[in-house]
Amino acid sequence: FRIAVFASGSGSNFQAIADAVKAGRLDATIELLVCDRPKAKVVERATKAGIPVYTFTPKEYASRQAYEQDILAELRDRKVDLVILAGYMRILTEVLVEAYWGRMLNIHPSLLPSFPGLHAVRQALAHGVKVTGVTVHLVDGGLDSGPILAQCALAIEDGDTEESLERRIHPIEHALYPQVIQDIVQGAIDLDRVVQANNSITD
Ligand code: GRF
Repeated sequence: FRIAVFASGSGSNFQAIADAVKAGRLDATIELLVCDRPKAKVVERATKAGIPVYTFTPKEYASRQAYEQDILAELRDRKVDLVILAGYMRILTEVLVEAYWGRMLNIHPSLLPSFPGLHAVRQALAHGVKVTGVTVHLVDGGLDSGPILAQCALAIEDGDTEESLERRIHPIEHALYPQVIQDIVQGAIDLDRVVQANNSITD
């Protein structure tokens, strides 16, 4: 499998995936890091790991579709067959969503469909839920709304803050995401079947 990772910030999930590849726990190659913030820490991480980087500055483009067309050309050039969103802070348009429907994953720090969007951990605390977690899902046109591939739950404890909870959520993400990708590579998760099942629900 030839994958591309999209990230905007620190890139600890990118690092976990790159480490899993290096350690032989994930039978894939990271062909490209795509980043909308040229100064983000994730760019440094990729450079250090010897992974090609494609950065762009959204405001230099006339539209979101325009920069996504450029990204899509890069992905096609590199024959990327799986796109991994890992803290990519931009809403995607139909340009990328349709080109990679069924082949694009996202990770979100809540048990979807609860708490989509920004500040999922803060939302969970504000609602007083006792259990939260992490979700890996396929990306469709909505906000954190595609078919769910895997979830991992985590208890919220008295006195938890956004920071303390994030500190426990991150290692769960770092274990779950490479594992889900490896499950796809090995066929334990069959994306074609997930897509088919989803179509029959929405038809
Ligand atoms: C993660 O919590 C992920 O669930 C969310 O964005 C965060 C990215 O963190 N989508 P990092 O940049 O991978 O450290």
